[in-house]
Amino acid sequence: MSKNQNNYTVASAAHKQIEKLRNQINKANYQYYVLNYPELPDSEYDRLLHRLQQLEAENPELITTDSPTQRVGHKPLSAFVQRSHEIPMLSLEKALDDNQMHQFDQRVREKLDQQTIVYSCEPKLDGVAISLLYENGELIRGVTRGDGETGEDITQNIRTIKTIPLKLLGAGWPKRLEVRGEVYMLKADFDKLNQTIALKGGKLFMNPRNAAAGSLRQLNSSVTAMRPLKMCCYSVGVFNGELPKDHYNVLQQLQKWGLCISSEIKLASSIKECIAYYNALLTRRNLLPYDMDGIVFKVNDLQLQQRLGAVSRAPRWAVAYKFPAHEEITTIEDITFQVGRSGAITPVARLKPVFIGGVTVKNATLHNMNEIKRLDVRKGDTVVVRRAGDVIPKIISVVMSKRPQNTKKTALPKICPVCGSQTQQEPDKAVVRCTGGLFCPAMRKEAIKHFASRRAMDIRGLGSKLTDQFVDRQLICSVADLYRLTAPMIAECEKMGEKSAENLIQALNKSKKTTLERFIYALGIPEVGETTAAALSHYFGDLTALTITDSETLENIDDIGPVVAKNIVSFFKQPHNREVVEQLIDCGIHWSEPVSKKSSGVNQEKAPLENQTWVLTGTLESMTREEGKAYLVALGAKVTNTVSAKTTAVVVGKKAGSKLAKAQSLGIQVMDEITFTQLLKELNSSPP
Ligand code: IVH
Repeated sequence: MSKNQNNYTVASAAHKQIEKLRNQINKANYQYYVLNYPELPDSEYDRLLHRLQQLEAENPELITTDSPTQRVGHKPLSAFVQRSHEIPMLSLEKALDDNQMHQFDQRVREKLDQQTIVYSCEPKLDGVAISLLYENGELIRGVTRGDGETGEDITQNIRTIKTIPLKLLGAGWPKRLEVRGEVYMLKADFDKLNQTIALKGGKLFMNPRNAAAGSLRQLNSSVTAMRPLKMCCYSVGVFNGELPKDHYNVLQQLQKWGLCISSEIKLASSIKECIAYYNALLTRRNLLPYDMDGIVFKVNDLQLQQRLGAVSRAPRWAVAYKFPAHEEITTIEDITFQVGRSGAITPVARLKPVFIGGVTVKNATLHNMNEIKRLDVRKGDTVVVRRAGDVIPKIISVVMSKRPQNTKKTALPKICPVCGSQTQQEPDKAVVRCTGGLFCPAMRKEAIKHFASRRAMDIRGLGSKLTDQFVDRQLICSVADLYRLTAPMIAECEKMGEKSAENLIQALNKSKKTTLERFIYALGIPEVGETTAAALSHYFGDLTALTITDSETLENIDDIGPVVAKNIVSFFKQPHNREVVEQLIDCGIHWSEPVSKKSSGVNQEKAPLENQTWVLTGTLESMTREEGKAYLVALGAKVTNTVSAKTTAVVVGKKAGSKLAKAQSLGIQVMDEITFTQLLKELNSSPP
């Protein structure tokens, strides 16, 4: 191949790549600015733009005036009146590491020929840039940044934002004053808004910035009015009149006139201090109620700002030190299903590992089938993953344009992926459950892990991996089996030795002494958390009474509604659960009476059989003796095994023996089963 041909090939390859990048970027701009539903995360967009800039720098003859590198922002939508900015709204130079910050500082100092520079430090809010125009203190116009030269007139929408004064406070404002800032949404408000939209079956916003942009660009301002938007001002554009001579004091002045500014603004007298500020805010990033995508540093002295001027769309006096991105794109290698303690099957996306905000993310929850349907997410898809703070990584959208051919819709599993039992869809169709119950090893493992957890039975040293081994090796089937483990059985497991086995046995023994509320919580009754467990313990004061109670009684207890009541009743109705509870007690689990039995404000009434002593004898037909005892205890009676002069009454079932004779000889009231159940009904304690 001749040299010429070779050059030609390189140039045409670059040309093709440039064309492709321009198309991708133009499309992304359209989705972001016009549709408010971007497909690509900012990080990916930035990479595309950067790549295009690089290629254009290498091949300057290929630069065209319509290349997306030649303008920042977008062409405004025609639905709003377009307004040109008297002073262009510039963008910011970016710094990605400390080194680039030092370079920025060095350039500033060299240009100004000055050793020290005072910088103002402020969060870079992740929202939408707007410009407000006040004339004689009155808000007359609100315009989006648009492409920096021209924006959209959204005055009507701006006027609905409560943190924007329609009339400036105080006095002394310049006759004309243009204030610039960011319209944003608090993270909590964004979550609430999305919840409301979800209830109506609408399309969710991807992130708070996206929600702010979509809300601002509503053609109907009454929609904007209902959106929780806020504005934070960060600079002044045109003004006729007097203003303070430095940025920091300009912002303080704006605040006095009733405009919001960031409460985090600080001055720094060196780039080192700026970097320290950056690190401090990066640490607190997740604690702040709004999204920030970095920190903006500005030369504080306005005269110095003027002297520095701007280069191609960005001022030389400011820099944005970016935070690691919250959102990245990656692909879904597989969608698997996990079975939880309650049998709920949760879809999990297995991702091609992706680095997001300092952590490698490999999995993202897909919550339930509704979520899968909403996103139409499939194996093989390219997706945007968001990991904000310590929140579990979440897939927020599918990049449809990157979907490979022949992908299959993700279907809900008809059988449990762990035990093969049929699955069942809840009436709302969102949750699919395994019907295997405790037959399903996944549910069993989760139930045992919950039982052993710190706030339940607190079995130290019984971690998740060891529990999995116990179940997989069939050493245990239920929580009661834990107490039948022996040191040699434990020592056989991986990563266990004699010493650790012995320690676990001791921990198991130690856990036997517990409290009734911990025990109830440990049983893992659906939706019975610690608070409910404590309420039940106080109310019943006794396990047997709880095991035979009914929904009506339960619903009398504060905070227990029909669903939880039903869960409790049906839990104790299941023979398997009763058996396990009995076995646990037999294994030696015990507790002392709760201090405030029946005194927690849930039931202050005097119990009908208080101070009475009852005896049950013979075989009862409609209930077991344990249940009969539980009813009596629930009504306040003491139940003993021997008949004495102190006995109030004796309930006699079939084949009653010496106790009946003794009661008769002492003249104590004797009651047959029918009379007994009648009495229970009268006392509102009907059998379960
Ligand atoms: S100053 C010439 N300060 O960042 C300087 N911008 O990339 C103009 N932003 O469009 C901007 N917080 O939307 C400045 N405290 C802050 C900011 C901020 C967020 C956004 C703004 C602008 C973009 C620049």
